[in-house]
Amino acid sequence: MAKPSSLLHLLASVVTVLAISVLLGHGVLHVGASHRVYRNLRKTVESTSVKQPYRTSYHFQPPKNWINDPNGPMLYKGIYHLFYQYNPKAAVWGNIIWAHSTSTDLVNWTPHVPAIFPSQESDINGCWSGSATILPGYKPAILYTGINPQNQQVQNLAVPKNLSDPYLIEWVKSPHNPLMAPTAMNQINASSFRDPTTAWVGPDGRWRVIIGNKRDRGRKGRAILYRSKDFVRWTKAQHPLHSAKNTGMWECPDFFPVSAQVPLGLDTSINGPNVKHVLKVSLDDKKHEYYTVGTYNSTTDRYVPDKGSVDSDSGLRYDYGKFYASKTFFDSKTNRRILWGWINESSSEDDDIKKGWSGIQAIPRTIWLDKSGKQLVQWPILEIEKLHNSQVVLPNKLIKGGTVLEVSGVTAAQADVEVLFEVKGLEKAEVFDPTWTNPQMLCSQKGASVKGSLGPFGLLVMASKGLEEYTAVFFRIFKGQNKYVVLMCSDQSRSSLNNSNDKTTYGALLDVDPLHEKLSLRTLIDHSIVESFGGGGKSCITARVYPVLAVEDGTHLHVFNNGTQSVEVLTLSAWSMKKAKIN
Ligand SMILES: *[C@@H]1O[C@H](CO)[C@@H](O)[C@H](O)[C@H]1NC(C)=O
Ligand SMILES: *[C@@H]1O[C@H](CO)[C@@H](O)[C@H](O)[C@H]1NC(C)=O
Ligand SMILES: *[C@@H]1O[C@H](CO)[C@@H](O)[C@H](O)[C@H]1NC(C)=O
Ligand SMILES: *[C@@H]1O[C@H](CO)[C@@H](O)[C@H](O)[C@H]1NC(C)=O
Ligand SMILES: *[C@@H]1O[C@H](CO)[C@@H](O)[C@H](O)[C@H]1NC(C)=O
Ligand SMILES: *[C@@H]1O[C@H](CO)[C@@H](O)[C@H](O)[C@H]1NC(C)=O
Repeated sequence: MAKPSSLLHLLASVVTVLAISVLLGHGVLHVGASHRVYRNLRKTVESTSVKQPYRTSYHFQPPKNWINDPNGPMLYKGIYHLFYQYNPKAAVWGNIIWAHSTSTDLVNWTPHVPAIFPSQESDINGCWSGSATILPGYKPAILYTGINPQNQQVQNLAVPKNLSDPYLIEWVKSPHNPLMAPTAMNQINASSFRDPTTAWVGPDGRWRVIIGNKRDRGRKGRAILYRSKDFVRWTKAQHPLHSAKNTGMWECPDFFPVSAQVPLGLDTSINGPNVKHVLKVSLDDKKHEYYTVGTYNSTTDRYVPDKGSVDSDSGLRYDYGKFYASKTFFDSKTNRRILWGWINESSSEDDDIKKGWSGIQAIPRTIWLDKSGKQLVQWPILEIEKLHNSQVVLPNKLIKGGTVLEVSGVTAAQADVEVLFEVKGLEKAEVFDPTWTNPQMLCSQKGASVKGSLGPFGLLVMASKGLEEYTAVFFRIFKGQNKYVVLMCSDQSRSSLNNSNDKTTYGALLDVDPLHEKLSLRTLIDHSIVESFGGGGKSCITARVYPVLAVEDGTHLHVFNNGTQSVEVLTLSAWSMKKAKIN
């Protein structure tokens, strides 16, 4: 029996451990994980009889439990690998390991045993996010963040046990782990040091990798740089690759080259003329990501965003809805750079426990530099079109203001829809107020039910028969100072009669000139997912919805125009989607 004094001492240290685990809660705050997990585990087991109208049919998710960040995506011997943060015990964050699935087409996935799980002192309290690098001799290597017994974040290495196994089922951890750790010397905060990127080689032949970090005083987010000759002994560089004031902790940095000439992907070590670089960071404070386009000097090891590329949380995002902790990889088979991102739930934790799962991965997107050189363009990987079943085509049609036109003959809860609008009478556009600096706010104020002149027009997806429920993905066009301004919105305010879920409306500006270009919208609908690509992928918005009436066969699809001006639908194609083997 402990004496009261030592009991107090024990209590105090328990409180400290809890406080640390709150701080460490990667992506989500979770208090007192240990006892909750058991309660959740019990509930997970009870949940097998619950109806599952919100599970996906072609977006990646495991049969149950919590998932978050995509990890170490790569192509090896013709097989695509996806690892992801996974709680094997419950539908809430905790007990984090690397789950593993493989695919030959990025659409159908086969689960394998977990690849990386706590087994060494350097990761005994969790195996957090990281990335894969293919080393010379065609040898994959994974760098990941481990949580050590002191709850410090350190960086570890794991390599395949058997390189002849294209599925890379077994991974062996380096006996030298941790390879990078916070010390009194390097003054790295042990609670803010995580998520190593795919490494690249510089002109001196040394490997480089960056790790997400925050400087202790102030809110400066940083990408700490390490170099190595042998991938095992790493030395911290004097200065970070890049940092930005007032951005807070940078999670899941991603750093890669893009071609300024052709819309193809580049291997991560490529640099030179006609190569730009992209740095993406996930902001722990804001829970969204931004990226800049810039130049990387591999001699000085500094990255400088281009003039005009906004280096703060008001900068460009891959996705203006739910999309976090994303990561790219270079697909050497098809010369594409492919982006994976985690989409979390909008439901309550209690509901997640009831349904037994939480989190999915977005459809992988091919990304490349737009011809303007100022932003990226993203498009669902072509392979997803293998799932196209029957196609419904709406002929060219003028859609008058106030019209809601049903597109029937498609499984509207599981569909891929693409529509091309032509807008005439642009002179009737309302004037854009220059004080409107927040497109998301603008979309919330001017939702689908606020009539305008040119817009709102777009799609009503996941709609119930009597339109009691729908998610509206739409555009509005305004007259700006010297150009037209196109706003793209995803309005979830009427997505469900159930008011207990998060129904935040999302918005983005879309860099399309409606005077010279047609306006396209593609939406991937998958039961609880509405993943939209505006202007051929220049702006993307992903939303989660949990309708009560608009489930399965009770789901409808419409094209609508709630502006006063007519718009023309040049083409509209909607495909029923087959089910993929998502795990
Ligand atoms: C390595 O993998 C190959 C291919 O799956 C298999 O044939 C071989 O037996 C494996 N070797 C060992 C030592 O497990
Ligand atoms: C380290 O980071 C954590 C989390 O941001 C913060 O609470 C703590 O104060 C930092 N430690 C120091 C010594 O600044
Ligand atoms: C990189 O920086 C070095 C040193 O400042 C400079 O000499 C070199 O020209 C730079 N390289 C490029 C491609 O700008
Ligand atoms: C997940 O969803 C909730 C509510 O919909 C949101 O507040 C949270 O910040 C989201 N993102 C992450 C990365 O946890
Ligand atoms: C169109 O606007 C009217 C008037 O504000 C509103 O009642 C109706 O719900 C809107 N339609 C859609 C599809 O939001
Ligand atoms: C509404 O949502 C709450 C919480 O998300 C859930 O418990 C309840 O079952 C839902 N009701 C219906 C009718 O779906």
